[in-house]
Amino acid sequence: NWTTGNVIDEQVAAIREMVGDKRAICGLSGGVDSAVAAALVQKAIGSQLTCVYVDHGLMRKGETEQVEKDFVAATGVQLKVVDAEERFLKALAGVSDPEQKRKIIGREFIRVFEQAQAEIIADEGPAVEFLVQGTLYPDVVESGGGSGTANIKSHHNVGGLPEDLEFQLIEPLRKLFKDEVRMVGQELGLPEEIVHRQPFPGPGLGIRIVGEVTKERLDLLREADAIAREELTAAGLDRDIWQCPVVLLADVRSVGVQGDGRTYGHPIVLRPVSSEDAMTADWSRVPYDVLAKISTRITNEVRDVNRVVLDVTSKPPGTIEWE
Ligand code: XMP
Repeated sequence: NWTTGNVIDEQVAAIREMVGDKRAICGLSGGVDSAVAAALVQKAIGSQLTCVYVDHGLMRKGETEQVEKDFVAATGVQLKVVDAEERFLKALAGVSDPEQKRKIIGREFIRVFEQAQAEIIADEGPAVEFLVQGTLYPDVVESGGGSGTANIKSHHNVGGLPEDLEFQLIEPLRKLFKDEVRMVGQELGLPEEIVHRQPFPGPGLGIRIVGEVTKERLDLLREADAIAREELTAAGLDRDIWQCPVVLLADVRSVGVQGDGRTYGHPIVLRPVSSEDAMTADWSRVPYDVLAKISTRITNEVRDVNRVVLDVTSKPPGTIEWE
């Protein structure tokens, strides 16, 4: 009979047997899958595992700290954090096209990860022979099934790493669905914010700025996003909403009035959606008073934003993200 306890015991035994006295590496993305996979492997082989977290500077407020502090505290995992913000910003300078952005972010991510990997391999100790991946059952079916999910957007998995034949894969979540992964994560004592994190794209806020990505714009979007998340959580809507992209229209300006002056600022778009699998989605009917609160706070607290708009498009025809 299926219990999270059984799944954990089974996987821990299997991983120990597989890895022996060798070492393993795992890339953390901040998401549920890689976190739970890493926690399971950590439970099995402890310090024989090293996790790598590439901070590309495109995460939301508090997310990097969540991995660096809370996840490490909960699991005791050995973590190497690479601060690559500058490198990503440089590579993204002057780029507005969404597909270009994805390609650049994906490419830089792989380069930075591979470098970190090389450093870990060069460290003293037994050989690194294993790579941990948070592949879920639907991913297995999807990639084996062929057709169907032709990529409309490139690079849906920045967290997915290059196939490296020198590594054997450890995929402890291969038989599990998302809700089961969350249960396992909970049982392993992972922070609530990680276990119940809503989907967030690998390219992060890089594809939520319509226009060029700059540090200044990222900081502004991070503030707006943090306010929206805070208010949606306070209203108890986290489980009703699949995800809520907050988008900065950096290339658009509109006239506003604040205090005794005219402003010429940027709009922020709220895109709360309900969905089962992200293939189709409907816009969430968030109560007006919650929307009002978010709007008031964002325009009051975020510099250069003088307008908040709500996206009322289903998918199709709109995608969930704006890029
Ligand atoms: P769309 O915008 O295509 O999004 O309706 C469907 C789901 O995929 C996420 N998404 C991405 N995830 N890399 C990712 O890892 C990407 O480039 C990417 N683009 C979209 C999106 O957040 C939604 O959950």
